[in-house]
Amino acid sequence: MEKTIDETKQGTTLKLENSVQNGRKLFIESYGCAMNFSDSEIVASILAKEGFNTTQTLADADLVLVNTCSIRDKAEQTIRKRLTEYNAAKKLRPHLKVGVLGCMAERLKDKLLDEEKIVDMVVGPDAYKDLPNLIKEVDSGRDAVNVILSKDETYGDIAPVRLNSNGVTAFVSITRGCDNMCTFCVVPFTRGRERSRDPQSILAEIATLWDKGFKEITLLGQNVDSYLWYGGGLKKGFEKATKMQKATAVRFARLLEMVAQAHPKMRIRFSTSNPQDMTLDVIETMAKFDNICNHVHLPVQSGSNRILKEMNRLHTIEEYFELVDNIRKIIPDCSISQDIIVGFPTETEEDHQDTLKALDYVKYDFGYMYAYSERPGTMAGRKMEDDVPAPVKKRRLSEIIALQREHCRFRTEKHLGKIQEVLIEGTSKKSENEWMGRNSQSTVVVFPKENYKVGDFVNIKINDCTSATLIGEAVGYSDNN
Ligand code: SAH
Ligand code: F3S
Repeated sequence: MEKTIDETKQGTTLKLENSVQNGRKLFIESYGCAMNFSDSEIVASILAKEGFNTTQTLADADLVLVNTCSIRDKAEQTIRKRLTEYNAAKKLRPHLKVGVLGCMAERLKDKLLDEEKIVDMVVGPDAYKDLPNLIKEVDSGRDAVNVILSKDETYGDIAPVRLNSNGVTAFVSITRGCDNMCTFCVVPFTRGRERSRDPQSILAEIATLWDKGFKEITLLGQNVDSYLWYGGGLKKGFEKATKMQKATAVRFARLLEMVAQAHPKMRIRFSTSNPQDMTLDVIETMAKFDNICNHVHLPVQSGSNRILKEMNRLHTIEEYFELVDNIRKIIPDCSISQDIIVGFPTETEEDHQDTLKALDYVKYDFGYMYAYSERPGTMAGRKMEDDVPAPVKKRRLSEIIALQREHCRFRTEKHLGKIQEVLIEGTSKKSENEWMGRNSQSTVVVFPKENYKVGDFVNIKINDCTSATLIGEAVGYSDNN
């Protein structure tokens, strides 16, 4: 199943669209979640103002920044290897500086500088505005660190520079951090307290994207359903808000509505939804606006109530099923995707069977499945033994993936014979002569190019499918152009 991703393979070099040259070149590489890719665009914007241009060629770089992921051990190992390679490159080019950004910077702090001596600069996810100062420190021969987490930094005032962009789809961050404390998850430690961004700055960013010709945005947050703006954005500060602020607070459903109304022809997606925080008014808002895509990414993690409890997921599997039923009642053709962790500490064969049963119940359109990886500092890492043997995790993971693959096919087959609106994002990976785009449900669709172009909304008749891809032919432009 192609959508089973391994974060460590997502590292890519990003190309800066436009900047004022200062003669120095930045090579920036991102790993992990969409938020990291989005953050790299913020970093590029901050450094463009300092005159840095970007390069996709390491040999041309004066500064290498690696935006890192700590979510699983394997991601960290891959990035460490990369950092060692960059460090080795310094032997040939002594002026080259290497900085680590993102979650590993936060988690390992100055360990990478002091003990391992493989980088010059360590910058946590809330400290990117300090990069110009930190670079000056490094230029004058000192190491530089800023890993201070913030209660209010949302980078709301920074217009991201779109990197490696197809000019059609873009990410827009709406919240940062997470207050949920799932016991397996390192994110609350690396990205700090949950805070929401001012809706006006979100709308302004989307308006700029629209003016530049972008056609689809994805609103990003670790937990978009707990978006909350009341004049301030810190979730924990809401209790102290005034009566008036409470009465006029903007929650996620309202934000979605504001965005959908502001740009009726812009496609809107969002990720990630947390089952315990998702409310039905979000689904009702999706149903009300044609331009909000019919897809919900709804991580379940496990089908066993005992394991869900151990994970501190604050819902039962029955409550999760009820939410799924309600989503499908309100939007019958809504696609639903999952994240699942197998082999969480104490997971028994029976728990695993419960997860397979949950898959059978929902029959997800697609999903992202992982073997549990113990993260130091998390509650599970401190209190629970990582006691499911690796071969057992591996076998359970392959059973889950195999069943999900069947469901992927079951879902893609349901699109056969239909005519669906697709936004063209680029050339298909498999054929130069075909376009690739996605339908509302976020399923990939490929079809012959004819005279259509990137950014067109096209009606596609779906003739065939694999488990992950729909194959079709264009029958004309959709009304949305
Ligand atoms: N709410 C976040 C979740 C971030 S982590 C979001 O925006 O998607 C993404 C997924 O990685 C989680 O849903 C979980 O399935 C997986 N994951 C997190 N910590 C993990 C760990 N310690 N081991 C294995 N998988 C993990
Ligand atoms: Fe992690 Fe749970 Fe938040 S998975 S990002 S602690 S919702």
